Amino acid sequence: MTLGDALRAEIDELAAQLPARHAALLPALHLVQRANGCISRDAMRELASHLGLRPVEVLEVVTFCDEFTHERRGRHAVRVCTSLGCSLRGGRTLLAQLEARLGIGAGEITADGLLSLDRAPCLGACAGAPLLRVDAIDHTEVDFERACQLLSGLE
Ligand code: FES
Repeated sequence: MTLGDALRAEIDELAAQLPARHAALLPALHLVQRANGCISRDAMRELASHLGLRPVEVLEVVTFCDEFTHERRGRHAVRVCTSLGCSLRGGRTLLAQLEARLGIGAGEITADGLLSLDRAPCLGACAGAPLLRVDAIDHTEVDFERACQLLSGLE
């Protein structure tokens, strides 16, 4: 899926508020991902051209930033940190419980397309382990009950 007219207009509006057009890359990537569920190679090429960047510069950001994916995700991206700090405080157990609850494995999307579930590497909030990230919001010290509460509010 590529950029549509509405998305291009939104990106242009963002870029107009910044000192340089290419400075809109990060927020534009968020917009593309939110609209399309992922950032495809075609979308990266189009966005690069739209912002006056080389495609590789967009690819570098997409592959470096953990927030972005070129694979399709659910409307809401649910990620459980399974690095050591979180695993020691129940991160892997939480992931297994969510897999059972949602009926999907890590890396999969629910049948209704609402949620995707993934493991995350350390997200830098180890003091609040175990960490659950829902879209761009981190939730700390999350147990299964709290995770279910958080997910039940998503539409
Ligand atoms: S180990 Fe989970 S946030 Fe660092």
